[in-house]
Amino acid sequence: MAPRTKVEKRMDWDSGVKYTKDEFIEYYGQKKGAKAWNEADPTAWEPKAKVKAKAKAKSKTESKPRKDLKVCVCGGAGGIGQPLSLLMAMDPNCSELCVFDLSIAMVPPAGVAADLSHIEKKASVKGYVMEVGKNPIDYLEECLTGCNVVLVPAGVPRKPGQTRDDLFKINADIAKGIVEACAKFCPDAVLLLIVNPVNSIVPAMAELYKKKGLKPENIVGVTTLDCVRSNKFVGEITGKNPNFVRIPVIGGHAGATILPLFSQDKAGASIDKDKIPDLDKKVQDAGTQVVEAKGGKGSATLSMAYAGARMGSSVLAGLQGRRRTECAYVKSEITDLPYFTSKVVFGENGVAKVLDLGTLSEHETKRLEEVKTTLKGEIQTGLDYAEKNNLA
Ligand code: NAD
Ligand code: LMR
Repeated sequence: MAPRTKVEKRMDWDSGVKYTKDEFIEYYGQKKGAKAWNEADPTAWEPKAKVKAKAKAKSKTESKPRKDLKVCVCGGAGGIGQPLSLLMAMDPNCSELCVFDLSIAMVPPAGVAADLSHIEKKASVKGYVMEVGKNPIDYLEECLTGCNVVLVPAGVPRKPGQTRDDLFKINADIAKGIVEACAKFCPDAVLLLIVNPVNSIVPAMAELYKKKGLKPENIVGVTTLDCVRSNKFVGEITGKNPNFVRIPVIGGHAGATILPLFSQDKAGASIDKDKIPDLDKKVQDAGTQVVEAKGGKGSATLSMAYAGARMGSSVLAGLQGRRRTECAYVKSEITDLPYFTSKVVFGENGVAKVLDLGTLSEHETKRLEEVKTTLKGEIQTGLDYAEKNNLA
């Protein structure tokens, strides 16, 4: 039998995974892919000694050392919080990780932190606990001081039959307590809000930040799971590796406000137009499908932790000076609505640029009107909350 030729693979710095040149080009496009391939670590197939010598030589010439970045996961002992904390502890850009939760959480946050602190990665991990009914601002000075990124999956999840909107009152108050403490102890941090309903809680918290004289742009709604789901479903239909599918999902994060732009990805655009409305609906209903399958025991936690960590890692990479683009729900001027999900570039100061929507198909153009009508009301819920409340 003829020996099988090994196709050269190189390490993609961004993902830490090795790919062939063709895969680089498929993922990044012709020009960027070729550049990324040339810049990728070609030593990946070389003997260890050679790699070591080259790494040593390279480290001497590297002028910009990585910054030490501190991350906090609020609700870090919960369903999303635990796997999310695990993934953030593994991020090479995370030097310090704080796990904050209530004393009634399913595991004490100190236990989650002790567990994670044994992982052979650079992050040091510490847990912080608070009793129910207390104010985070009175307990989180040490936890939040110096934080660059705060991920917030703290809050109540849906049960079958509930909408995300039904969670607003209870979760807005939880978010407010945490955001208030961030405003005091880490006012420059990027706050990644996972807690639902994202469509209303993000405008509420961003407007409260504005009232306090802080940057509303630092309040970012995490909608990455909609992109992750869209990529997966398109991969399943087309047979493409979902890792190389990049469907932007715009609008918001609930029902009809979730609008996947299948036409803007090569694999997505190859799908029969007749199949798009059902696929669009499948993405909109994916959260409800998980809520029902979990039968009253919560909503998506593991896929959300994966998506939240993708977002968290992109923001950390941006803060390190390696710009990343992710869809996120932020203060926006690209439509007539004040908050909207679209592609956002994250850089050294958090949100660097909110990108416009690009070209939409006929189906997407029609759906955009539906998105705007529904989202408008949900944004208003948040604006009303901000009007009636203030951060301490
Ligand atoms: P969970 O109940 O398993 O965990 C929530 C955690 O938050 C618990 O450990 C709880 O003790 C903690 N918590 C509650 N109040 C707190 C406070 N004041 N301070 C600190 N911690 C507090 O719930 P979950 O499944 O992890 O979901 C969390 C939230 O994320 C829900 O609102 C859910 O709807 C939302 N979610 C959003 C997305 C998204 O795509 N944005 C996806 C899935 C879930
Ligand atoms: C999701 O999309 O999975 C989350 O928003 C949780 C939910 O309530 O559906």
